[in-house]
Amino acid sequence: PGERKENETEKGLRILDKGFLNTAVIRSRITYIDGEAGVLRYRGYPIEQLAQKSSHLESAYLLIYGSLPTRDQFKHFESEILRHGVMHSDAEEFFRSFRYDAHPMSMLTSAFAMLGSLYGEANPSLQGQRLYTNGDKQSLATMDRQIYRLIGKATTLAAMAYRVRQGREFVTPPTGLSYTGSFLYQMDHIGEEDYKPNPVLEKALDVLFLIHADHELNASCTTVLQTGSSLVDPYSAIAAGCASLYGPLHGGANEAVIRMLISIGKPENVPAFIEAVKKKEKTLSGFGHRVYKTSDPRSFIVRKTADEVFKVTGRDELLETAMALHDAAMKDEYFVKRKLAPNVDFCGLIYRAMGFPLDFFPVLFAVPRVVGWLAHWRQMMLQEGGVKIWRPRQVYIGSTKRDYVPVDERV
Ligand code: ACO
Repeated sequence: PGERKENETEKGLRILDKGFLNTAVIRSRITYIDGEAGVLRYRGYPIEQLAQKSSHLESAYLLIYGSLPTRDQFKHFESEILRHGVMHSDAEEFFRSFRYDAHPMSMLTSAFAMLGSLYGEANPSLQGQRLYTNGDKQSLATMDRQIYRLIGKATTLAAMAYRVRQGREFVTPPTGLSYTGSFLYQMDHIGEEDYKPNPVLEKALDVLFLIHADHELNASCTTVLQTGSSLVDPYSAIAAGCASLYGPLHGGANEAVIRMLISIGKPENVPAFIEAVKKKEKTLSGFGHRVYKTSDPRSFIVRKTADEVFKVTGRDELLETAMALHDAAMKDEYFVKRKLAPNVDFCGLIYRAMGFPLDFFPVLFAVPRVVGWLAHWRQMMLQEGGVKIWRPRQVYIGSTKRDYVPVDERV
């Protein structure tokens, strides 16, 4: 009875929904998913059409502002983002303070939070609580500036995290390249004046960026909104989202897929691995999704992109194992019954073929996802009725009231 009293609420029934299986926390116009039918749309546009016809930055504009940009709108958006790619020189010292073997996601998460320390103009604690919720011209312009900065600097910070581990000099973002091209330039550049990224690989990475840009209220986006609901600055909210993405059940899964494939080795070892998964001794990374109960529509785009990349890089030796695993799981009763199908994380094979280090894969997810996080953050800041702090309740199952026992009397 004591416990029941603790859980009584003036607002009526309190629902326990562990892991938010069926709880909506916001009204959104950004991304639509039909998990049963395998449908994903950004602002109404099917992901397949966008992957084929759009670019990552154009889709970023769409996600954030709600419509496809005109030529002039896009030109302005792109130039602002590329201009904001340049990093303050203080950031170089910051990156050099990491250990030589620091995980790039730890560095990226810290770096997003560090950015907040450089831009006091973005901080509602300093500038006033209504900094982003005002909806007036100045407020919208301040918000846009933080959006340009965060998208622009995401690639720069990621490239710095990559190069610092190799003891290489940092590269200033170049001019005249696309967003993705500039990123590859900052990663790879070794001093030749006329260095240009391979156009097939640049396009492939851009498509992967586009399909990773948003996926409605996944764990990291929810974390950004939860954190942002206290009206903290967007850099801190994005850092929180980045930390959430790092985990192996979410953005870390693309790294986990490759570690899994390496551990399986040859295709003939697949049946034993599948048996271990069924006994719950192992997880089949890259399979299963909270929302999709059929194949993730992005997984088909990943396959097509992989074909194009492998024409340039050659086939990855783990591909045969990945295909054997896919085929075995898709016809096994255990996976069929649980509606477990491939998600987007087999893109790790493409990153590997392109030569990115394994622990850099979640960074390749975080960089484009900054777009989705910001789209949702902006939407929440401007939502009708203002921002309500996200403060869920619990169902208390602990002890009823008891009195303090002095240490000598404890048994
Ligand atoms: N391998 C083996 N079994 C699985 C897997 C998997 N990958 N995913 C789910 N299951 C099983 C569960 O053990 C459970 O079985 P049970 O009914 O016998 O207990 C059943 O399927 C339901 O799974 P839940 O864990 O309840 O599903 P949930 O929606 O909570 O989890 C998640 C979704 C975390 C994505 C899960 O499928 C998983 O761990 N997948 C592997 C990691 C991964 O690929 N994550 C990336 C997700 S996509 C993204 O972030 C881009």
